Amino acid sequence: LHVVVLMGGWSAEREVSLTSGKGIAAACRALGHRVTEIDMDRDIAARLAEAAPDVVFNALHGTPGEDGSVQGLLDLMGLKYTHSGVSTSAIAIDKELTKLVLAPHGIRMPAGTIVASETLYAGDPLPRPYVLKPVNEGSSVGVAIVTDASNYGNPISAQASGPWQVFPSLLAEPFIAGKELTVAVLDDEALAVTELQTDTGFYDYEAKYTEGRTLHICPADLPPEITAACLKMALDAHRALGCKGTSRSDFRYDPAQGEGGLYLLEVNTQPGMTPLSLVPEQARYRGIDYESLVQRLIDAALK
Ligand code: DAL
Ligand code: MG
Repeated sequence: LHVVVLMGGWSAEREVSLTSGKGIAAACRALGHRVTEIDMDRDIAARLAEAAPDVVFNALHGTPGEDGSVQGLLDLMGLKYTHSGVSTSAIAIDKELTKLVLAPHGIRMPAGTIVASETLYAGDPLPRPYVLKPVNEGSSVGVAIVTDASNYGNPISAQASGPWQVFPSLLAEPFIAGKELTVAVLDDEALAVTELQTDTGFYDYEAKYTEGRTLHICPADLPPEITAACLKMALDAHRALGCKGTSRSDFRYDPAQGEGGLYLLEVNTQPGMTPLSLVPEQARYRGIDYESLVQRLIDAALK
């Protein structure tokens, strides 16, 4: 097959996407496919038309590769592509919209509130501790955990060069104490639960992409009913949103609250495929090596 691996782009996750894309391109070559690597720019339509691939492997993260825009272009061009389609991507990239769609399915998520960043001057939008995050970023870009110990009177003053200026509207959610968990879904099957343990307790950008910074425990050491609930919630969310190929759902679990302490935070429709990423890791745990994973995503795209 002739595979275009679409990567890079101009989101805050550009570097992550390039790393995902390089890995995918290498796997495609090892699988015997002909590969064209495209670092996405504004001429993307012309470059795709020229390449005329059998399938596009979408290795983009963030906007516009994860929000339905690129998917819409690919649909218009009649090109087949990996991962989710337009409406699923547009909903899942928005953490607030995701809640609205998943709530009727009985999927527990933290009660969030959208705040305009300038109103943060007036004080805390929620009782501390809480989490502030851009509604539509990935890899924890722009995310802050605001605790009683945070040494500022209001969040915005301490983060003058931080997310508050770049992201005009933010999502505030109560901070869930306890564990950080994640579940990959591949071809309509939840693979495993991984617990992410960091020194700081915050699985931020650096912890995600610096080797040795985060302990990945797969399968997570949890009561069986929590593991089962976590796997089910990830699969339910994947289906409710209409995800295709793969998705990865991220969770917080507060053991002090028992089974009611499991909260889905978000569904990633373009999960990372870097050497430290979690979908490849869970696939490996289930006996699916990286190349086979890439091939399965291509197969799903061609169905
Ligand atoms: N947003 C990053 C790439 C992830 O979900 O893995
Ligand atoms: Mg994400």
